[in-house]
Amino acid sequence: MPDAIVLLKNDHKTVERLFKQFEKLGGSSSGAHKTKRDVVDKIIQELSIHAAIEEQHFYPTIREQAPDISDDVLEGLEEHHVVKWTLSELKDMSPQAERFDAKVTVLIEMVRHHVEEEEADMFPKVREAMGRKDLQVLGETMEKAKAISPKQPHPKAPDTPPGNLIAGPAAAAADSVKAAAKKGLLRRGR
Ligand SMILES: [Fe+2]
Ligand SMILES: [Fe+2]
Repeated sequence: MPDAIVLLKNDHKTVERLFKQFEKLGGSSSGAHKTKRDVVDKIIQELSIHAAIEEQHFYPTIREQAPDISDDVLEGLEEHHVVKWTLSELKDMSPQAERFDAKVTVLIEMVRHHVEEEEADMFPKVREAMGRKDLQVLGETMEKAKAISPKQPHPKAPDTPPGNLIAGPAAAAADSVKAAAKKGLLRRGR
């Protein structure tokens, strides 16, 4: 089982792979609308889950264990907020829309900046402040939390405990009902 930092870095790599996939698809004249939609839907899901487990578990724990990281965490939460807004717009936007590619490009820039700050500044401080055992336990908690995390962005929902610990799983449940309805699984009489 990876520790908390290894787990988050693996997530960052997954998202970076998706970003590269999107960038290879070419500009708005490339016509790869269907593939762009698929890649962006994967980005939305990965980033929504990743942001949720950081907000519910990683950020609150490190604020407690290393109070001098607090300012970094507050900046991180603001960056998550802007990212989630952008994700929520992309979720409902046609890949053929004039602004779609530009919005994804700005999203990618924001996330790369955020990941760079986490990996270069925040994570080394966390590793110094927290023991290996604690990081291991936190990693296990986050791995489990992934299963009950929202798969869609909820930028207006609370992003700090205790509010997000209650709202997160509830939003996740609502997301799966919506996804099932979309697939027609909940259509009456079928
Ligand atoms: Fe983050
Ligand atoms: Fe992260």
